Amino acid sequence: MEKKNLPIGFMDSGLGGLSVLKEALRIMPYDDFIYYGDSRNAPYGVKDQETIRRLTFQVVEMLLERGIKGLAIACNTATSAAVAKLRLAYPQLPIVGIEPAVKPAVEHNHGGRILVMATPMTIRQEKFHKLLERYRNGKEVVPVPCEGLMEFVEHGELDGDTLEAYFREHLTPYLTEDTETIVLGCTHYPFLRRYLRKFLGERKIDLIDGSLGTAAELRRRLLEQGLLWEEPRERSVVIENSLDDPEMIRRSWKLLQLPID
Ligand code: DGL
Repeated sequence: MEKKNLPIGFMDSGLGGLSVLKEALRIMPYDDFIYYGDSRNAPYGVKDQETIRRLTFQVVEMLLERGIKGLAIACNTATSAAVAKLRLAYPQLPIVGIEPAVKPAVEHNHGGRILVMATPMTIRQEKFHKLLERYRNGKEVVPVPCEGLMEFVEHGELDGDTLEAYFREHLTPYLTEDTETIVLGCTHYPFLRRYLRKFLGERKIDLIDGSLGTAAELRRRLLEQGLLWEEPRERSVVIENSLDDPEMIRRSWKLLQLPID
């Protein structure tokens, strides 16, 4: 089969990467996609690097066996643990990963505090420290480890008292008068954006994430290699999940259709 006809592969530890897929579907309207959520092994964000790497390779190898022309690691945690090794293992394959959007947060900063919500694993990684060193530019950038937050999205719980209690316990201690931006540094969190905004109430805080940037980078890479469909054609989008539960697939489609503001 001609390479261009193959789908673009997406993977995440669960349903979070759908926030990146959503942008990709919008800016690459004629390409086929296959999304694989590894919810059975979620969360990745509290596991050690070796385990995350092994799980990520397992999913990627399965996608490659089925045939893909490009790959998005739509998970900050898997990106930090595995993307360098994946690039070494598959030098011919266009691979993009996602990182917390610290760079745009700093670029648009007016001197206020920048919070970065992410999994404990993403925050512990050297890759994250390098990212801060490289882009911080003297700004106050504060990591907020959010163990247990991705589970709300996995369970389809996008609002409510338990979520509010979570924010109160884990986020409120970091919120200062001068907090200007919150970076959503895990692909699950954009699905909580609406409720987070409600929780923040009157505070004028920008909520940003790297989903569009990542999708745009993937598009650029595919275009460069002549692998992108630019002319209208019917396309297929397949969503799969390692949990043998049809509810996860229904929930995935629901999330994909949910407006993210
Ligand atoms: N969606 C993943 C990320 O972007 C993390 C969720 C998990 O802990 O598995 O980091």
